[in-house]
Amino acid sequence: MLQVRDLAVEFRTRDGVATAVDGVSFGVDAGETLAVLGESGSGKSVTAQAVMGILDTPPGRVTRGEILFGGRDLLKMSAEERRAVRGARMAMIFQDALSALNPVLSVGQQLGEMFQVHRGASRKEARARAVELMERVRIPAARARAGDYPHQFSGGMRQRIMIAMALALEPELIIADEPTTALDVTVQAQVMDLLADLQSEFRMGLILITHDLGVVADTADRIAVMYAGRIVETAPVRDLYRAPAHPYTRGLLDSIPRLDQKGQQLDAVKGLPPSLLNIPQGCSFHPRCPVARPVCHADEPPLYDAGPGRASACHFWEELLDDECDG
Ligand SMILES: Nc1ncnc2c1ncn2[C@@H]1O[C@H](COP(=O)(O)OP(=O)(O)O)[C@@H](O)[C@H]1O
Ligand code: SF4
Ligand SMILES: [Mg+2]
Repeated sequence: MLQVRDLAVEFRTRDGVATAVDGVSFGVDAGETLAVLGESGSGKSVTAQAVMGILDTPPGRVTRGEILFGGRDLLKMSAEERRAVRGARMAMIFQDALSALNPVLSVGQQLGEMFQVHRGASRKEARARAVELMERVRIPAARARAGDYPHQFSGGMRQRIMIAMALALEPELIIADEPTTALDVTVQAQVMDLLADLQSEFRMGLILITHDLGVVADTADRIAVMYAGRIVETAPVRDLYRAPAHPYTRGLLDSIPRLDQKGQQLDAVKGLPPSLLNIPQGCSFHPRCPVARPVCHADEPPLYDAGPGRASACHFWEELLDDECDG
């Protein structure tokens, strides 16, 4: 359904050109969840914004690649066609519902508007559909609360309302960018469960952006791990947890004591990610890599095919996999 090929995005800033996304390729099928995982600044949100067509342009610019959605390249569409796709066929859920929702409209009005504008519903119909949606995202006393404004809801409830907005027109694809990061742990789990249920019910494709490994383990089918604007490993979730094929992924996994523990931050890989204005030569991970060798300083690893559905951008992926299997 969605095929991103060799996507590159640059930001022209006063300090120089930052390559935020550099040759990223991935696909998402109907009913599939792809998790995009990586530290802050690795290019996850910029990738999502490019797919949605909401990149901050300028300073941002797509410099390369294709974004095929239902067989057509979104990058070749007119602004008007792109808006139509964004309105009805793909939707985005952001971290911060309070800034994504309109503060001066009741949530019932905002949800209802989707049906009035896009589906030509009457006010009365729209209101009924809005309440229905609020029920679907399990907001208690939905009918009574449809007249309330976003600030009158708790963080978790607001996040549910944003999910309802995204689902309203039954899109083929939803991109959720750190949808539960601002919530406390119990509420996070509830919102993720809801999103997963609705996704399988609606058979949508879901791109779940997160820096939280706990969220990924329960929800995703596949993972793409990003580092400094590139995908460094991609694999089915189970395979990646069982045996990572990249030292960065291994570092991330080693940092969680238990896979079912939520709320783990990805801060346990020593050192900092590089400045995107000055990405290291060779393997961009080499300054932080515990198993780097001389070749890593000079030769940039391509994304090697590392088995069925797997790829790794490490010269030594085979040794890593052998290691994991022996140990
Ligand atoms: N509006 C912007 N202006 C300049 N640079 C930006 C902008 N948005 C993102 N970037 C650059 O892209 C990098 C990746 O950002 P982002 O995709 O938001 O990271 P994350 O993986 O945390 O979502 C940032 O570190 C920054 O260098
Ligand atoms: S290519 Fe070298 S530096 Fe890069 S991850 Fe592999 S071992 Fe580490
Ligand atoms: Mg982000």
